[in-house]
Amino acid sequence: METYDKYINSLKNLLNLKDENRFISQQLLYLHKQAMIKVDPIIVELGVGTGQSTKVFLNAINSKKNAKLISIDIKDCSKSISSDKWEFIQQDSTDIINLLWKKPEIKKGIDILYVDSLHVAKHVKKEIYSYFQFVKKDGLIIFDDIDSSPYMAGQRKDSVGTEIANRKIYKLLEAIFRANMCKIDFKILRGSTGLAIFKKIVDLGEKLNEPFYIKERNFDYSIFKRLLKKLLKVF
Ligand SMILES: C[S@@+](CC[C@H](N)C(=O)[O-])C[C@H]1O[C@@H](n2cnc3c(N)ncnc32)[C@H](O)[C@@H]1O
Repeated sequence: METYDKYINSLKNLLNLKDENRFISQQLLYLHKQAMIKVDPIIVELGVGTGQSTKVFLNAINSKKNAKLISIDIKDCSKSISSDKWEFIQQDSTDIINLLWKKPEIKKGIDILYVDSLHVAKHVKKEIYSYFQFVKKDGLIIFDDIDSSPYMAGQRKDSVGTEIANRKIYKLLEAIFRANMCKIDFKILRGSTGLAIFKKIVDLGEKLNEPFYIKERNFDYSIFKRLLKKLLKVF
């Protein structure tokens, strides 16, 4: 069974760099730390891809007897990882009914939900609203790719599509937080592509309220009010 120690050590070495390459390891090692801290965590990962986060989680739970990582991807990623702590399900990440049928133990509670599949706000919304009730109290929901800055014009990952998509995801998470301050804590880790972290502070089974959006103000109209007051004083 592969333990991925070498991979973790290579990430630790990247931490010493002074350039932007250290951010990717900061993000991945944050996931590692959170999985290490928990006793026998049940981790559900949405999106396997090349398996960077998968390897990180598996290394963290390697010596935890009853811990498990359940990963979901629409593509067949079953051959990319070798570990008896790993269970792979090929399906759409939003199809919670099918997932619960295949993995009913999820109903007992998820300790860490890692959201890194299709980076489109509508999809992320469906994921969080499907899984939230199955996350335990004090469980974490960690979203990758919530920062649009690295994708802005002339930046490291310049991509207008991802810049816009990530901004929408970030605004969605803010709107969810605004409507659910009594149910979640919210933190941001700036780094490679940014992590948003929700900590669930209510019991397993509790559901989220619908997001609450507020129209952004981009002009301060009170300038006109103050000006009008001054003019009225003069005349
Ligand atoms: C950004 S990659 C995941 C990266 C991975 N977490 C890592 O750290 O290497 C996104 C993955 O999400 C998968 N994906 C895209 N749409 C999906 C969907 N609707 N349901 C499940 N997985 C999906 C893609 O096949 C891809 O492998």
